[in-house]
Amino acid sequence: MPMGFLPIHGIILLVVCSLSLLPPSASSDSRLLPNRPLTVGSTLISDDGTFSLGFFSPSNSTRNNNYYVGIWYNQIPKDNIVWVANRATPITDPSSATLTLTNTSNLVVYGTDGQLIWTANISAPGNTTSAEATLENTGNFILRTSEGFILWQSFNHPTDTLLLGMDFRVTHNTHALQRLISWNSPQDPSPGSFSYGADPNEFLQRFIWNGSRAYRRSPVWNNYLIVGSYMEIINSNIYLTIHRIDDEIYISYGVAGGSSSSTVNIKMDYSGKVKILMWESNMLEWDVLEAEPNHECSTYGYCGPFGYCDNSEPIVACKCLDGFEPISNTDRSDGSSSKGCRRKEALRCDRENSFLTLASMKIPDKFVYVKNKSFDECTAECASNCSCAAYAYANMSTTAINGDETRCLLWMGDLIDTEKLVGQGENLYIRVNSLSEKRSHILKITLPVLLSFLILICMCLLWICNCRDKQRNKQIWKEMISRGLSTSDELVDEKFPFISFRKIVLATNNFSSSNMLGHGGFGYVYKGTLQCGKRIAVKRLSKGSGQGVLEFRNEVILIAKLQHRNLVKLLGFCIHGDEKLLIYEYLPNKSLDAFLFNSNKRPLLHWSIRFNIIMGIARGLLYLHQDSRLKIIHRDLKPSNILLDAEMNPMISDFGMARIFYGNQQQGNTNRVMGTYGYMPPEYALEGMFSVKSDVYSFGVLVLEIVSGSKISSMLMTEDYPNIIAYAWSLWKDGNTKDFVDPSIVESCSLDETSQCIHIGLLCVQDNPNSRPLMSSVVSILENGDTSLPPPKQPIYFAERNNGPYEAAEAPVDSANTMSITELEGR
Ligand SMILES: *[C@@H]1O[C@H](CO)[C@@H](O)[C@H](O)[C@H]1NC(C)=O
Ligand SMILES: *[C@@H]1O[C@H](CO)[C@@H](O)[C@H](O)[C@H]1NC(C)=O
Ligand SMILES: *[C@@H]1O[C@H](CO)[C@@H](O)[C@H](O)[C@H]1NC(C)=O
Ligand SMILES: *[C@@H]1O[C@H](CO)[C@@H](O)[C@H](O)[C@H]1NC(C)=O
Ligand SMILES: *[C@@H]1O[C@H](CO)[C@@H](O)[C@H](O)[C@H]1NC(C)=O
Ligand SMILES: *[C@@H]1O[C@H](CO)[C@@H](O)[C@H](O)[C@H]1NC(C)=O
Ligand SMILES: *[C@@H]1O[C@H](CO)[C@@H](O)[C@H](O)[C@H]1NC(C)=O
Ligand SMILES: *[C@@H]1O[C@H](CO)[C@@H](O)[C@H](O)[C@H]1NC(C)=O
Repeated sequence: MPMGFLPIHGIILLVVCSLSLLPPSASSDSRLLPNRPLTVGSTLISDDGTFSLGFFSPSNSTRNNNYYVGIWYNQIPKDNIVWVANRATPITDPSSATLTLTNTSNLVVYGTDGQLIWTANISAPGNTTSAEATLENTGNFILRTSEGFILWQSFNHPTDTLLLGMDFRVTHNTHALQRLISWNSPQDPSPGSFSYGADPNEFLQRFIWNGSRAYRRSPVWNNYLIVGSYMEIINSNIYLTIHRIDDEIYISYGVAGGSSSSTVNIKMDYSGKVKILMWESNMLEWDVLEAEPNHECSTYGYCGPFGYCDNSEPIVACKCLDGFEPISNTDRSDGSSSKGCRRKEALRCDRENSFLTLASMKIPDKFVYVKNKSFDECTAECASNCSCAAYAYANMSTTAINGDETRCLLWMGDLIDTEKLVGQGENLYIRVNSLSEKRSHILKITLPVLLSFLILICMCLLWICNCRDKQRNKQIWKEMISRGLSTSDELVDEKFPFISFRKIVLATNNFSSSNMLGHGGFGYVYKGTLQCGKRIAVKRLSKGSGQGVLEFRNEVILIAKLQHRNLVKLLGFCIHGDEKLLIYEYLPNKSLDAFLFNSNKRPLLHWSIRFNIIMGIARGLLYLHQDSRLKIIHRDLKPSNILLDAEMNPMISDFGMARIFYGNQQQGNTNRVMGTYGYMPPEYALEGMFSVKSDVYSFGVLVLEIVSGSKISSMLMTEDYPNIIAYAWSLWKDGNTKDFVDPSIVESCSLDETSQCIHIGLLCVQDNPNSRPLMSSVVSILENGDTSLPPPKQPIYFAERNNGPYEAAEAPVDSANTMSITELEGR
């Protein structure tokens, strides 16, 4: 947020004053005049009030305040800076800094003692004292001579943001190529490592670079050098157009439906994403312009030569193109060691070579563009040269500027950075040995016959399977027992249903992405409807997640036996080849974090609901720790693992990391510390020791989060409080618990109850496990309103450090996001 400019009412006052002194037509608030420099604290404001230009400081810390000259949106509270003049040369002492229009019509930023900080490098000849610079309503800062001739404009010198009306040059015939260059960090506008622009050789694709290396590449433009009106629709808000001015090609963007009320701009973000930022009904939202950058697999060249990133499967992973195999045997879904793929069979170059068609591909990079070839000519071009490994072709739908309607692309070397897309992309034709093609020809004839046989057999099998589901159920249990679960023989209950894979595939529409509810380190969660109409949630453990069989058995056996209204109900399970699936009842309100950490939904959680949630979690935990026949430590309590039913009753879920204690065992320890930072007690995070008191700690954190409506590692508080434990303690110490309560409910809640909950929360997060209460005491205090609680001591451990990821406060809140699991090795 820009600081160091007058608050808005001050500006209005200024405007009013200047209006009353000057003739109305000469209001100078959007103009910079020669020898009337702009100083820190004053701003230019565009006529319609949308943009301001002036000095700002992006950092909040009191030390090290760097000042910059920039342009920002007035109405948007953050991410609002659209242009920076001196991004690489900050002003450290703003007291005498100025932005000056010199009498030689140059724009200059001076620092202390007239030190030159930045200049627009204009040297207009002679008599130009009448030039002036205006901040337009578009956000363009234009320097004109008195004759109206434009000497310089900020739109020709973009920093990290594209604005409406701005032309962004993507070829370099007579001018330098332009790129958007990210900030270094949210507080530092100096040029960061990511930049965005077009492939300088053939303008067919857009790139994000990390330094000088390609980082992501957009799918190839379907049309090339089209007259005026060609556009690419990006989403419902925005389209890109390409057009020609003189000898150069430019990109600009437009807002769909001409809705001028919404403010949209495009930013090369410091995190490596090109974002579309939209300001609508007082909310700043963003979308990603360039191909989904959320999974590593779409990073440039990630899958190696002749490999491709398959987006068409629920679990996005690297694969080899048809006819190719991995070079190394390491797990390619991990990809980190991916060396790419090689041909299964060496290519014999002869006239008989043929081409295999791969549809819906983001075609590889490093092509050769052969002009003016029809499809057949393009095929012949590739066939005639043994080095040609593949080709692609698109006939353009509109008349091209140079009269060439064709687009024949050839690959002479490796095929790199290929992706399989969903519902878009092009045909890629790969060269293969003719024999394999003949083989596939034979297949084409025999396949239908084979298929019909297979279908018949399948139908028979399904019929048989259906009858045997129950028997299979028994078998699976026996199998599980024989795999070393003998200690828990007594747990095995044959009535617990095995649900066939086929039924799950039907229920979830073959795990379609529209049924996906979320994902995390373990795999994906889908919603579905069984044939009988029952709604279910299916947890599909990912094959490569590493937390497979063990956790699976754990969860099935545990939950099968547990029955409590505050524990999620497992309806069944399925093992099918590599697939491991858990079937739960479907809870329409998703998880607690989806409410608690969403500023729109948080106010819906009234105090009575929150108290009921705290109470429910406490009862569920008490059952786990004491009241079931076993002692169970959950080990991963956090808001995303608390599901909410239709009446907002909490249900504890996700027993993948739970441990059972037998007999009188009080404490366990482990070499594999798994859990989520912020919710792990110190003795567990540091030494791997866990007991029922570990869950009590996590419960304490949950209680503090529920009362305050903030995440454990939230950055919303000032720098003095790295997390809410420290914040709660500080307020508690001063007897001021009211300030800790979520502002959206503080007016309507019972301060006695919130204060008691904060007290309990602080007792539960004590560093020493012995100082934390048992869940039985917690439940009894909550039920009876007991006020004779011991005072808490200051929690030191987590209060003094902040282990939360920095993005914690910024990340969009959905349960998928917070399901990630932190794993530490060893002690
Ligand atoms: C700066 O402080 C203001 C108010 O204290 C806050 O709203 C804003 O988010 C902070 N900005 C940054 C970049 O920390
Ligand atoms: C322009 O400004 C410089 C210094 O700022 C001054 O020395 C010079 O006389 C000025 N020229 C005119 C024509 O005003
Ligand atoms: C102005 O010119 C100098 C020297 O040619 C150059 O280093 C500087 O980057 C230029 N400044 C701008 C804003 O173009
Ligand atoms: C500058 O402009 C004024 C009037 O606009 C004119 O009288 C004067 O001769 C001009 N000087 C030069 C050096 O062009
Ligand atoms: C960008 O490049 C730098 C230096 O090569 C590297 O350390 C960093 O991890 C890269 N960032 C991403 C997101 O790939
Ligand atoms: C395209 O090729 C055809 C022959 O294949 C030729 O007649 C025509 O002039 C070419 N057009 C261009 C623009 O080169
Ligand atoms: C491209 O497509 C248009 C319309 O579909 C067709 O008229 C034209 O002949 C095609 N051009 C080539 C070179 O195939
Ligand atoms: C095949 O393509 C390569 C690479 O473009 C080129 O060097 C070679 O001359 C071509 N060979 C023939 C026979 O056209």
